[in-house]
Amino acid sequence: TGMFTFDPGFLATASCESKITFIDGDLGQLYYRGYPIEQLAEHSDYLECCYLLMNGELPTAKQREEFSYTIMHHTMVHEQLSSFFKGFRRDSHPMAMMVGVVGALSAFYQDSLDISNPDHRKVAKFRLISKIPTIAAMCFRYSIGAPFMYPRNNLSYSANFLHMMFATPCEPYEPNPVLVRALDRILILHADHEQNASTSTVRLAGSSGANPFACVAAGIACLWGPAHGGANEAVLKMLDEIGSEDNIEEFIQGVKDKRYRLMGFGHRVYKNMDPRASIMRETCHDVLQELGLHDDPKFKLAMKLEQIALSDPYFVERKLYPNVDFYSGIVLAALNIPVSMFTVIFALARTVGWISHWDEMLSDPQQKIGRPRQLYTGAPRRDYVPVTKR
Ligand code: CMC
Repeated sequence: TGMFTFDPGFLATASCESKITFIDGDLGQLYYRGYPIEQLAEHSDYLECCYLLMNGELPTAKQREEFSYTIMHHTMVHEQLSSFFKGFRRDSHPMAMMVGVVGALSAFYQDSLDISNPDHRKVAKFRLISKIPTIAAMCFRYSIGAPFMYPRNNLSYSANFLHMMFATPCEPYEPNPVLVRALDRILILHADHEQNASTSTVRLAGSSGANPFACVAAGIACLWGPAHGGANEAVLKMLDEIGSEDNIEEFIQGVKDKRYRLMGFGHRVYKNMDPRASIMRETCHDVLQELGLHDDPKFKLAMKLEQIALSDPYFVERKLYPNVDFYSGIVLAALNIPVSMFTVIFALARTVGWISHWDEMLSDPQQKIGRPRQLYTGAPRRDYVPVTKR
């Protein structure tokens, strides 16, 4: 092309330098700030991972405590935000509300609009991590016509989210530690994934100096698509459609005939097992065991489907392996989380990734507005034709 390279879908373009997350797609490895995801999923918790992603280092005991305190004491949203919700149709999809409400935070926290000041950026980051679970739970409660529950700041981040989702004014929600841990793990696994479509969207939006709430709303909008964050929802629908192990062969034939895709399989970067999928499969097993659902037909069907696909030349040749979303939907469903909330939970978890990238970009003194070029393939120059002559 002479002046620039043509790379639709950015298969071979690095859009930035980053110190946050590293993926080795060939080996199927994922690291946050150098720490393997397996170790973080086993030993850390979501808030500690947030601190790590945002600051580059694991916190000391004191830093960890201060950070948790700060996050858990900014979980309330302005009371007026409750009236903002009332403008939505009563049966709105929670993701539709998420895009709108998170964008609207710019109107509530106007001091966060001046992003040139790193202190303001810091407060905006705290606000987003603190308030996103509150907003996510409000979206769910509104969509089912239930009253909003105020946060309980003495609970852990994940337990508080489950409380806001499931408690009622007359009945408290008693968090089951196995289920809280499973949710926390889902949040850890989804916290960041370098320059995926939604993170690139946040960076691009932020490159113009747009405010962080507007940028995260843009990320949420991008995440909503079925090829990205909508996949976990699509996996459950697919398992329902397949119905039983007897139908797997026929279903796989349809994939090979390219009539539809095997959802939860394949990844732009991983050409090996997605390490998050292995952790999720294990978590799925633990949760079902805890709930006495070890014979869960969906889990069995998913494992059988995985096994058959992994031994089929179509998938082997294309290096298609299960990704994180293959099992996460089954875990979320076991936690009683409705399918319409799956992508919302992904957005909740990914918020820390989005704002860490946003801040990393703005902290770079060389930062420029993101502005791709194009190959123009439209009409050549031509003269205007008056409407009477067309
Ligand atoms: N089922 C069947 N065939 C597939 C699949 C699949 N899930 N994914 C890729 N292929 C085939 C595709 O048809 C193509 O074959 P051919 O060379 O014969 O045309 C080849 O594999 C390469 O596919 P591609 O579409 O060029 O690959 P991509 O890197 O552009 O797409 C993807 C990556 C994730 C969009 C794709 O694998 C996909 O659609 N997967 C299903 C949806 C999904 O599970 N998404 C979640 C991704 S992980 C979480 C997240 O990032 O949000």
